[in-house]
Amino acid sequence: MNEEKFYCRIPATSANLGVGFDSIGLAVEKFLTIEAHASDHWHVEMVEEFLNVLPSNKNNLVVKTASRIASHYDVILPPLHIRMSSEIPLTHGLGSSSSAIVAGIELANYYGRLNLSMDDKIRLGSQIEGHPDNVGPCVTGGMFAGYYANDELFYQTSLFEGLTLVLSVPPYELSTKEARGILPKTFSHAEAVEQNAIANVMLMAMLKGDYETMGAMMMRDKLHEPYRQRLIAEFPTVKALALEEGAYATVISGAGPTILTLCAEDKVGAILSRLQTEVPGCQHERVGIYRK
Ligand code: HSE
Repeated sequence: MNEEKFYCRIPATSANLGVGFDSIGLAVEKFLTIEAHASDHWHVEMVEEFLNVLPSNKNNLVVKTASRIASHYDVILPPLHIRMSSEIPLTHGLGSSSSAIVAGIELANYYGRLNLSMDDKIRLGSQIEGHPDNVGPCVTGGMFAGYYANDELFYQTSLFEGLTLVLSVPPYELSTKEARGILPKTFSHAEAVEQNAIANVMLMAMLKGDYETMGAMMMRDKLHEPYRQRLIAEFPTVKALALEEGAYATVISGAGPTILTLCAEDKVGAILSRLQTEVPGCQHERVGIYRK
């Protein structure tokens, strides 16, 4: 039997950053870890108890993705024993499915000797997800802005300094399907123009390090936050408290229910202590930006 061992560590991601719906995302320092070796059948061994809701056979998203990529490139993968460990809560708006998809792509890349580039990996992941805002930063690290349509992909990444992140994680799950299902199907031309202007200013402010303007623009999303807030009871309180303590912005992480606050380093202590005291139902934690 082939004794080769494979190891990869894929970050969690926080998509949208308010005004970048389906386009912008950030890699954060929470990880899905995969170890694999060839075996006589496919099996996924879960390290943490909470992962046991996931299939341990070929229906596991990591395995399904690896198989899909292998057949796309017409290569055969050996059956693998996969050991899966994760710090990323499932169905909480931190991109756990995208991390699994990227792990599957990495497995296929390694065992299929595909030699995929970063662009290939993001494109393949976007084909599966339909949008690049989670798989993009999973692959690149840092902050990612991507446009993916008709299998064309354009993206840029940025590593910015001086921002600290606080995650507020409610105890319940929120399915992405439900959180997408409540969004309007159409917007007017005037609304599209407005959203475009807000997103443009947000990105320019971020690149210049003007985090006050960046934060103000992040919180003016028109496409998803106004609708999704209703599904996350803690959101208005977390946002109000964090802003009172000097945060730049508080937005929904991905499709929720996790809430993301961006602040300066010297504010994080006060924000965390206020949130822990006044919103004890959520788990609040500081988390780093993952840079490759
Ligand atoms: N941009 C996506 C959304 C992220 O907000 O629905 C979750 O897939």
